[in-house]
This record gives sequence, structure tokens and C-alpha cells, in this order.
Amino acid sequence: MARLSLRRTRRDPLTRALTREVRVSTDQFIQPSFVVEGLKAREPVPGLAQVHRETPDSLLAQVEKDLEAGVRAQLLFGVPRDKREKDFDPSFTAERIAALKKRFGADLWLAVDVCLCSSTTHGHCGVLTSERDHVDNAASVDALAAAALAYAQAGADCAAPSDMMDGRVGAIRARLDAAGLERTLIMSYAAKFHSVMYGPFRVAADSAPAASSGLRDRATYQIDPSRPRDARLSAQRDDEEGADILMVKPGLFYLDVLKDLSTRIPRPWAVYEVSGEFAAIELLAERGLTPRAAAHREAWTALARAGASMIISYGARHAREWLNA
Ligand code: PBG
Ligand code: ZN
Repeated sequence: MARLSLRRTRRDPLTRALTREVRVSTDQFIQPSFVVEGLKAREPVPGLAQVHRETPDSLLAQVEKDLEAGVRAQLLFGVPRDKREKDFDPSFTAERIAALKKRFGADLWLAVDVCLCSSTTHGHCGVLTSERDHVDNAASVDALAAAALAYAQAGADCAAPSDMMDGRVGAIRARLDAAGLERTLIMSYAAKFHSVMYGPFRVAADSAPAASSGLRDRATYQIDPSRPRDARLSAQRDDEEGADILMVKPGLFYLDVLKDLSTRIPRPWAVYEVSGEFAAIELLAERGLTPRAAAHREAWTALARAGASMIISYGARHAREWLNA
């Protein structure tokens, strides 16, 4: 056995760069952004460095800066002021989409989150039954398809349903096709788990389920963390219903699921490094317990290694800097 064997290809930076199997690059990233109706000035989101709840004007300025930083894909979350139980009004978000596409056109790939939790009085991702003890699937799917249609008509490139209701991908596809919007993509949050890692997001999107509604949490619609087969069924179903891109969420806690599903289902796979996962790394770095850029780079490498071709991350706008640091 040679004295030096496996260590030879690790000996210097150039050899290491040439032998890499997994490469992460800025064009894989999607930046999540929040735009909030009725906000006077933009506000930082606790835990997510340099992510804000934007006003309509500050959103345009931020997206322009992001384009300059090499981020060409955004995932937009619209937060309407007025909360309802049903008959939701998609116009605030639709107007932001129209303004973004008017300003940036084909330079920007714009995906828009399709859910109801930022629009409902109770913060659940759907319409509650009259007993208010569970989410009514049919009524929710109908409202989601209406929202997706409004966003696609406003010019979104991609509708991204995150609600986890049954049958919403098929319903959205049918509604878009019937309106002549065959070219609008659907990116499905196909394997979305009932996770504790969504905390900062719920502040940003004003979407925490209210304690006063009979339903305390999202366990009746999101996947149980101990059920990887449920994730497989959910992804297979969304694939069959015509999703163009499938997603695993969270990412860092569910690398096994991402690896398994992306190997099984030959669609483009996205992964969402969710707010709590991103914030955890930021907190370590802030306390001087880990080097910031290298920590994010390692996390993103893990997501790519597990099979993601797209990475949705709150750090997308720093990717160029952090990947090259
Ligand atoms: C819900 C939704 C969630 C996220 C995006 N859309 C989670 C939830 O509130 O259950 C989480 C994103 C993140 O934490 O970054 N429609
Ligand atoms: Zn939701």
C-alpha cells in the first residue's frame, strides 16, 4: 500500500477543485422575498440577516440589487393587509407580480408562493369547516387555484403551492391550462414536513396559526417528520398531477428524503433551506462559533450532494460572495 494514497488528491487547492464531484453555483439559487401590504417602511426579519418585509417600492429596489448580485430567481410571498375566512383577494400580490415583470421582464424568473396562511384570519393554510375543527380540502383547493390563476395572469413564471392540500397541483394545472397559461410552471412543495424550523418565516409572512382557532398547528396537513413514505406518496402524486419541479422542505433536516426522492423521481428537484435552518447558521456565526461563509457553503454543498438542482435560501443574495470567500 502506497504511503500516500487518498491524501494525494487533497494535497493542494487546485487538485481539490479539480476533483470535486459536487459544485454549487449562483445560478442554482432562488431568493425568497416578502412584500407586505400597508407597510410604511421595510422591516428586518428577526434571525434572517438582510431579509426584510418589503414595501412595494422597496421590493423593486431589492430585486434590482439582487439581480446585480447575480440572483435571477425569486420566490415571492405576498402578505395582504386584510385577513379573511374565505373569498380571498389576490390583487395585492398580483399587482406586485405585474410591477416586477414590467420592470425586469425576462431577466427575472419569478416564482410566487401559493398559499392562504398569510390571508386567513386564523393563519391556517386553507379554509376551515364551519365547525372550525379542520381544514376543508375542496374549498381550500378552489381558493388556491384561483390565487394561482391570478398570479399567472399577472405574469408569474411559476406558481408554487405550499399548502399541502390534496389535489391542488392537478387543480392548479387544470385552471391554468383552461385559461391558456400552459407555459406557466408549477413548483410543488411536494415533501413538506410539519417542522419546528419555520419560526422566522411565520413572523415575516404573518402566518402563524392562531391559538384561538380549534386547530393548534399544521399537523393535519403537513407531513409527519417520522413518515418518509408519506413524503414519497406525496411526491409521486404531485409528479402524476403534473408538477414541473418538486421540492423537499426543510432541507438540512431532510437530506435523506431529498436523496431518496430525487433518485426515484426524474423531475428537477428543489430544496428549501428554511428560515430556522438558515437562522441557526447565522446565530452560530454571530456568536463567533463558526465561520459564516464557509458554514453556509458547507450547508449548500450538502443540499446539492443530496440531489437538489435548485436551492431556495435566504442567503441567495450572498451566494456569489460566500461561495468565493
Ligand atoms: C406555509 C409556508 C411555510 C413556509 C413557507 N410557506 C411553513 C409554515 O408556516 O408552515 C416556511 C418557509 C421557511 O421557514 O423559510 N405555507
Ligand atoms: Zn401556508
